[in-house]
Amino acid sequence: MNRRVLLPAEDADARRMSSGLPTRAACDVSDEGERTELDFLRETAEHSSLSDESLDLAQLAELVFPQLRRHVRAEQIVLVSAGRDKSACLVGRPLASCGAARLDARTCTTLVERYRGSVAQQPWIAHHRAADGNWPDAPAGLESFVLVPLCHRRVVVGWLLAVNSHGTAATAAAAPDGHWSTCGFGTREVNLLRATAAILAAHAANVELLHEKEQLLLDTVRALVNVVEAKDRYTSGHSERVGLYAKELAAATGLKESVCNRIYLAGLLHDIGKIAVRDDVLGKSAQLAREDLDEMHRHPEEAWSILFGLTALDDILFGVLHHHESWDGTGYPDGLRAEEIPLDARILAVADAYDAMTTNRPYRCALSPAEAADILRQGAGVQWDPRIVAMCVSILPTLCEIRESHHRQPPPVRRGYRMIHDELAATLLRDGDTVTTP
Ligand SMILES: [Fe+2]
Repeated sequence: MNRRVLLPAEDADARRMSSGLPTRAACDVSDEGERTELDFLRETAEHSSLSDESLDLAQLAELVFPQLRRHVRAEQIVLVSAGRDKSACLVGRPLASCGAARLDARTCTTLVERYRGSVAQQPWIAHHRAADGNWPDAPAGLESFVLVPLCHRRVVVGWLLAVNSHGTAATAAAAPDGHWSTCGFGTREVNLLRATAAILAAHAANVELLHEKEQLLLDTVRALVNVVEAKDRYTSGHSERVGLYAKELAAATGLKESVCNRIYLAGLLHDIGKIAVRDDVLGKSAQLAREDLDEMHRHPEEAWSILFGLTALDDILFGVLHHHESWDGTGYPDGLRAEEIPLDARILAVADAYDAMTTNRPYRCALSPAEAADILRQGAGVQWDPRIVAMCVSILPTLCEIRESHHRQPPPVRRGYRMIHDELAATLLRDGDTVTTP
């Protein structure tokens, strides 16, 4: 009679013995093996530590799966993501896979869909002995599997699937029917999968928290920038564009992603000091007089005063402070020259000048990108870093695309509390309920 065997991992060894499968003792287990497994877990935990260049969940899985597959003697290891709606615990797509492509992506997803209810509390292990035909509806190529949820604080973020245990050649030869799959997965393999799943789940949660923190910082910075730009309608969108241009220039210069992101943030905040500049100077539509210029030139140091002390913004301070320095030493506030000027500030200076030239001002119309590039070329080695100017000219089409695609969205029309309440009331009354006005 056909029989499917689906066992909780804790009972796996005992059931295997009663089923005539080799015991754990028959498998190639040794102290050396335990040590290398501990090494594997330590290395996995180290890889999961967060840094500027943090790996996302899929990248970490790709990194550790080859070793994991070797330790648990699986043909294939797959990480299947949870769906977008985590509360409904939906199954998403495979994020990472290692080893023979025994099961395709669709089959992996189907398998998880079918057994995810069973793994809510503990991992499950399923054996199929091809010789007995005891699992008639097993997907083609599937002999055995272990399914472990990636669970952090009761939220399932994915599933770890180990497919087809193969053991060592000696173990396979000793199996009753000589078929490698009869070695099966045991408690040791399942425990290692559970430990790995726990590290991956914690890593996924940490990455999400980090992204939330970064987004909060970015939203706060944009709110600050809006305060400055609300004072001067001619600079609307300028800070965002300078940030985007500077990030593109940094990437073209070959700087790593974390530095490009830092320069983008510095671009957003480069003129934050204008909050402290007198409104009558900021709003002047004519060329500025000498005393007005003096007032305006205070803004980099004002920015320093505003941002100093915000630990999360420590590494953008010098870019913001020195974005008006000049390559020949005639800039402000410190008259730095050439490479004395921080690289972030040299990049911001070119991005800032390019955007200012290609934007309408009350006293002149915007220059074309080509005209602005000509002026930058003329000022290379005088006002601006010649290497950054050359880079800017070489990526001019990209900068044009950024300007084309970046149109600042107006804030949404504010909806009053009364309007929202009336809409809710209408919906409830339509559904036969009543609503009480607070
Ligand atoms: Fe500025």
